[in-house]
Amino acid sequence: MARDSLLNTITVALVLCIVCSVMVSSAAVLLRPLQEANKKFDQQRNVLSAAGLDVAAMTATDIEALFHDESQIRRVLIDLDTGQPVDLKATEIDPASYDAKQAAKSPELSQPVQAAGGPTLGTPRREKYAFVYEMLTDGQIDLYVLPIYGKGLWSTLYGFLALDGDTRTVRGITFYEHRETPGLGGEVDNPAWKATWIGKQVSDQDGQVDFSIIKGRVDPQSQQAAHQVDGLSGATITSRGVSDAVQYWLGADGFGKYLQQQQSP
Ligand SMILES: Cc1cc2nc3c(=O)[nH]c(=O)nc-3n(C[C@H](O)[C@H](O)[C@H](O)COP(=O)(O)O)c2cc1C
Repeated sequence: MARDSLLNTITVALVLCIVCSVMVSSAAVLLRPLQEANKKFDQQRNVLSAAGLDVAAMTATDIEALFHDESQIRRVLIDLDTGQPVDLKATEIDPASYDAKQAAKSPELSQPVQAAGGPTLGTPRREKYAFVYEMLTDGQIDLYVLPIYGKGLWSTLYGFLALDGDTRTVRGITFYEHRETPGLGGEVDNPAWKATWIGKQVSDQDGQVDFSIIKGRVDPQSQQAAHQVDGLSGATITSRGVSDAVQYWLGADGFGKYLQQQQSP
């Protein structure tokens, strides 16, 4: 058979396709554990970053050790309906692999977002159970780090909100995933803007959620100033999405019941 016959060309192309697809799928399978480990590490860095720790100065080993030390950080699965910790032995949930994003898509592990008149998430369903991080000093909870998400202009923004042990005062905010426009909605990652959140109050004296990102600048003389953050200029839609997300996740349909129980355990 001639080397440049049609059959030869097709055979070589087919063999090449099969070899390449085997290589690509093997790489995907082999690298999956590494990808999962990197994802977990990135989440841990973001939890610590929201909590105000200087993660750039920490090694991977430091971070790993911190998350393994229950006297410093507790990762607790909360039933959002009751605000109570979930007994993991009584569920099928594997804490190592639980993915809230996937859970929000599963009919068994999610429920419709109740948004009648209240803040919206931009998604029809949300997970029933969510992991929170309780950071301890001398056996007392000093800080709560809560996972939050909400819809911006182009994407859903995923992040962590850190609250002081009083459950009202913001200690930090961070976003680890979004596709908002750099320079506009992407300014949610701007350290200067995130710094303006620190010390803000997310609820009033009665424990009702009282927090918003306003359009423009916060008037320091306003009585509401402690409960407001400046909007991102040219990114009102992203700002509103983040504001709604914070209100939702701190409210009764989010972590509201859990936070209330923390005040009067
Ligand atoms: C290319 C392009 C990208 C934009 N990206 C964002 C964005 O990431 N977030 C956002 O809220 N608005 C974004 N906007 C602006 C919105 O369309 C809208 O005008 C804006 O949210 C209104 O904010 P303002 O009232 O502060 O101007 C973008 C506009 C353009 C043309």
